[in-house]
Amino acid sequence: MQRRAKFFVIEGLDGSGVTTQAERLKNWLDKRGYEVSLTKEPTDGPVGALIRLHLARRLFFEKAKDSFAPLDDYTLALLFAADRMDHLNNVILPRLDSGIIVISDRYYLSSLAYQSLKLDLGWIKQMNSNCMRPDLTLFIDVPAQISKKRIERQRWHVELYEDIEILERVQQSYLKIIRELLLEGEKIKIINGNQPVQKVHSEVTNAIKKALSKTGVRSLEQLTYLPDS
Ligand code: TYD
Repeated sequence: MQRRAKFFVIEGLDGSGVTTQAERLKNWLDKRGYEVSLTKEPTDGPVGALIRLHLARRLFFEKAKDSFAPLDDYTLALLFAADRMDHLNNVILPRLDSGIIVISDRYYLSSLAYQSLKLDLGWIKQMNSNCMRPDLTLFIDVPAQISKKRIERQRWHVELYEDIEILERVQQSYLKIIRELLLEGEKIKIINGNQPVQKVHSEVTNAIKKALSKTGVRSLEQLTYLPDS
């Protein structure tokens, strides 16, 4: 039986350049003859579609006259987890099993970082505990201010989580959770996203090269570093 291909995840704040870096990484791997599939969360699947409507504030429930409320935080966290399970079983695993490298633009680290702002982290971890761990997660680290500026340049509408205070809290949440996951042995590399796109890309590809060349157990020192702060 063919060995399962590698599964890579790219994560970061909105506006951190995750999507750009994921696309560049896919092209880079394509050119080197790898079969690669790029995918993302929230997905285009049925649960993902519902989440997107919610995030764009187009899904409202009229609680009382003139009082509208979107989905509550618990329901949203459950939907993200459901979307992920559907993504994993119907998209990610079949591709990995047929030897195709998968790059996912966001995965469970997003749920841990974003949903834990309002909900218990333990519960969110539990809900996502049956999701396969990636071979490597790359976190594109940019300050919240930069992320906010980039979002404003790219879009005329602002989604949930795109307020500066919230972005700052999400950023802190990511770094705290990454530290915890590293201690649990998860493979995560933090990449400084506040530098030219090409420089970020070369740091991304260096990390991927190492991950692709390793066959045995990787040491945490080789694949991870934490910022000084
Ligand atoms: P995003 O990657 O920004 O999608 P798009 O580029 O299509 O707008 O994801 C949408 C938002 O969803 C983003 O603010 C992060 C948030 N999110 C969570 O809160 N939890 C999750 O588990 C995921 C996957 C995303």
